[in-house]
Amino acid sequence: MSKKVQIVEVGPRDGFQSVKEFIPTETKKKVIDLLVASGCRKIQATSFVNPKAIPQMADAAEVAEYVLKTYPNVSFYALTPNARGVENACDAGFREVSYVISVSPGHNMANVRRTIDESFEGLAAIRQSLPDMKIVLDAATTFGCPFDGKVSIGQVVAYLEKARAIGITIVDLCDTIGIANPRQVRAVLETVCEKFPEIDFGVHIHDTRNMGMANSLAAIECGVTRVSTTVGGMGGCPFAPGASGNTSTEDLVFMLQEMGYDTGIDFAKLLETARFLKENVPANYSGHQMNIAPSQCVMG
Ligand code: COA
Ligand code: ZN
Repeated sequence: MSKKVQIVEVGPRDGFQSVKEFIPTETKKKVIDLLVASGCRKIQATSFVNPKAIPQMADAAEVAEYVLKTYPNVSFYALTPNARGVENACDAGFREVSYVISVSPGHNMANVRRTIDESFEGLAAIRQSLPDMKIVLDAATTFGCPFDGKVSIGQVVAYLEKARAIGITIVDLCDTIGIANPRQVRAVLETVCEKFPEIDFGVHIHDTRNMGMANSLAAIECGVTRVSTTVGGMGGCPFAPGASGNTSTEDLVFMLQEMGYDTGIDFAKLLETARFLKENVPANYSGHQMNIAPSQCVMG
């Protein structure tokens, strides 16, 4: 029997957030329509952040209203950086959010203008005030930081102790700047899975140095079954200098399906989605499959 891997499509947030020109809300909705038609069942639809910091996400409530009403059977969630963001996401109808706190102090300060402890205090308060909100903790810069440099496994463990102390049970380990290597991914996962058996770990890997596929596969081979990617390999954190897009969804789906994994996604439809995006949204794209001419797609 093939093993299931849940692909979490984060393009409508991580991909779009770094696009300078405002993407019309209708285009955002159309991309989500295509993703759902391709079989994506978990999608990070937007983020509830200060629109002065990320103007691209200013239409978060409108996107939320459309996707939550149109696709009740798809699991949508939104990124939030603080209590205000979680409250706004809740008001917009989301019952799941990701809350971003970096493992490295330098990136946390650049990204959300808080110390790590201040961010955890904020998260603890939210857990009290909104106990029914499902929260995925996005552990940004788990594998390295553009400001502080190397991040040790000890730092990751200390961070996760803080998460455990406030009852967090879902964590995505994020390679925000695409600096991880497969050996490091294995070492981190082996340690954290052993020390934190009550936490469900996913990975969120950027492809800055063309290591996204290798790192995602390393995580999957360590037993991770939740992997975040962006269609077309779009994106990057505007507060992490040099960060580029995530591992491309269609590249990963193709590889996993060839290896016998079940992602539930229709590769051909996903590829059409990536091509629609490239034609309609002026972003950086690191995906490879979208550049293959149709005649080269079938092995002779
Ligand atoms: N949504 C909308 N507006 C928000 C907000 C939120 N979640 N949180 C704060 N604000 C507004 C405040 O109302 C205030 O507005 P004003 O300037 O009109 O008075 C302003 O933002 C500053 O508020 P403050 O609490 O002092 O926040 P800050 O200046 O310390 O900014 C963040 C912190 C996190 C809100 C902001 O830096 C941010 O949204 N960053 C985006 C992070 C991100 O998305 N990174 C990429 C993904 S990892
Ligand atoms: Zn990211």
